[in-house]
Amino acid sequence: MTRRFPPLSPKCPHFLHGGDYNPDQWLHMPEILDEDVRLMKLSGCNAMSTAIFAWTALEPEEGRFEFGWLDNVMDKLADNGVYVVLATPSGARPTWMARKYPEVLRVGADRRRILYCVRHNHCYTSPLYRRKCAVINRKLAERYKDHPALILWHISNEYGGECHCELCQDAFRNWLKKRYDQDLDRLNRAWWTSFWSHTYTDWSQIESPAPHGEMHLHGLTLDWKRFVTDQTIDFYLNEIQPLREVTPDIKITTNLMGTYLGLDGRKIARHLDVVSWDSYPSWRAATKEDVELASSVAFHHDLNRSLRAGQPFMLMESTPSVTNWQLVPKLKRPGLHFLSSLQAVAHGSDTVQYFQWRKGQGSWEKFHGAVVDHCGHENTRVFRDVAQVGEALKKMDCIVGTTTPAEVGLIFDWENAWAINDACGPRREKKDYLPTCVSHHRAFWKRGIAVDVIGMDDDFSRYKMLIAPMLYMIRPGVADRIEAFVGAGGAFVATYLSGITDENDRCHLGGFPGPLRKVLGIWAEEIDALYDDDRNHVVMTPGNPLGLEGEFEASIFCDLIHAETAQVAATYRDDFYAGRPALTRNCFGKGAAWYMASRNEEKFLQAFYDELAAHLKLGRALDTDLPEGVTAQMRTDGSRVFVFLMNFAQEERTIALAKGRFRDLLANKELPGRVTLPCYGCLVLERG
Ligand code: GLA
Ligand code: ZN
Repeated sequence: MTRRFPPLSPKCPHFLHGGDYNPDQWLHMPEILDEDVRLMKLSGCNAMSTAIFAWTALEPEEGRFEFGWLDNVMDKLADNGVYVVLATPSGARPTWMARKYPEVLRVGADRRRILYCVRHNHCYTSPLYRRKCAVINRKLAERYKDHPALILWHISNEYGGECHCELCQDAFRNWLKKRYDQDLDRLNRAWWTSFWSHTYTDWSQIESPAPHGEMHLHGLTLDWKRFVTDQTIDFYLNEIQPLREVTPDIKITTNLMGTYLGLDGRKIARHLDVVSWDSYPSWRAATKEDVELASSVAFHHDLNRSLRAGQPFMLMESTPSVTNWQLVPKLKRPGLHFLSSLQAVAHGSDTVQYFQWRKGQGSWEKFHGAVVDHCGHENTRVFRDVAQVGEALKKMDCIVGTTTPAEVGLIFDWENAWAINDACGPRREKKDYLPTCVSHHRAFWKRGIAVDVIGMDDDFSRYKMLIAPMLYMIRPGVADRIEAFVGAGGAFVATYLSGITDENDRCHLGGFPGPLRKVLGIWAEEIDALYDDDRNHVVMTPGNPLGLEGEFEASIFCDLIHAETAQVAATYRDDFYAGRPALTRNCFGKGAAWYMASRNEEKFLQAFYDELAAHLKLGRALDTDLPEGVTAQMRTDGSRVFVFLMNFAQEERTIALAKGRFRDLLANKELPGRVTLPCYGCLVLERG
């Protein structure tokens, strides 16, 4: 069955290539605009994210709007075949507005209102700010609704942070009243407020968390984070309302920030037409760390593809060279720009976009990488790197709209992350929820096996394997759905620190892992926290169903469990719990549920998942063993299959391919039985 997602806009059935474009910074040098257009064409750029921080240029004083300059930019771009991803300007507001209406400025957790400064710091509850956004957004929509350049709305910029003003406190209390059906007793029970005599006797007593106030009441801190996400979404819905009305056919996105924990990205994604995100990895210079980092970036791309069930996403921002705010902004070594750009495409991006098109002359981001440097011309290494990407993307129209059908789902859940991080115990540091998820994912990345990164409320039925590292919080209904998944033949993998709390972060009574106890067939009685350099060992049981032998290191967390209906596949070697189960398998319905009781070294994860993958016959992007540092990722429309072969290792690598099966899409030639990729080499193959 052929299945292709539509392009971002019917106007442009190609990959988007371009970047954040701020012509409003150059209005005093009008000749720059013509030069920009010339350079855009030269670099193979076809889309510019425009006017992201242009509010003052658009509305220099209250109610006086200046669209002339933007008309000119939009027209020029359209005339030259460059599309516009048009932004709404709420990411930064004019000085005049902050002066006149201080309520638009955020109040910190310390209850101090900020002075006018930087950006991304508005109050998202302020009715005045919401009105101002709605007005300017409507004007933009009405003015450009039929403009040939307009292909997509870019709402605000990187929503994030929180406001603690009185308006927000009231909104929070109202949000709580709704959540707890106006029943304060219910809230008190949900938050376990009898602890330290914190019982609320009136709604007005509830306040947002603060460094000089409440930070220890987990029900409160968790609900506050949920509120912040919901209030941000509410603000966003206010922003898009006029756009939906005036331009119903133009898709809408806002640029997310990977696994930024301030907002639940999965919840926001439900309200977008297309997911986009900004990726700024701290690449080293062709060192071993780059391989690990590449796998972490891959995890984030997979997450973004999975936020809307496989729909292609957008790499909205990435740097063409350095990221100036990083402690050591390393230059991208030759090849890395091409590789890291195509890495996003390999995992499902339909765009490669940059921050930023042109370096500004002054202020905070003047040293941030850009397609056009201060020298102003095209004879730079970075410009050539960008043009190389543009050249390649032009040959890849056939990949636009394709997706990656993964057979493995890995749960990374924001609320779970919040709850784990808030908890005082079972260890204060090195809980490492995200790195743990990434390390499980890496075992598949190294083999070229696709993984979706999903939430606990997503559909599991499409997968053969479901992995839930540290599923500490289990919301209602999730365990039932896991049981159904395993019962129907799925393989489920859980780890230490699972099934501990409910959606209000109250511990499950009656034995851990709470609602997962039945499907896992174990009881987790205690958990041992290890000092950083403590080690235990996990010894494989003779005749274990994986056929694995030997022992592996365990650190940080060791669960002391009892196998109830599960079989023991490995035991601990050391300490007073030597001989007790460390890995179990519970046959349940037509499937099996595994419990990894300790945090084991990556060698274990690789061996464990290799065996399970073989047993479940999980598809690989390439039917060949990949050398260290190399990965292969696949996109398909159901009939044509494209494989991205990428080398993140420090040295060249040779990969065996089935002879005559693959064509090099970019060079348009058939490939021999072996290919050698240099350090940072990348090939796009089409399977014959
Ligand atoms: C963020 C912002 C951009 C820019 C870049 C710099 O992602 O969205 O406006 O500041 O960082 O890396
Ligand atoms: Zn506020």
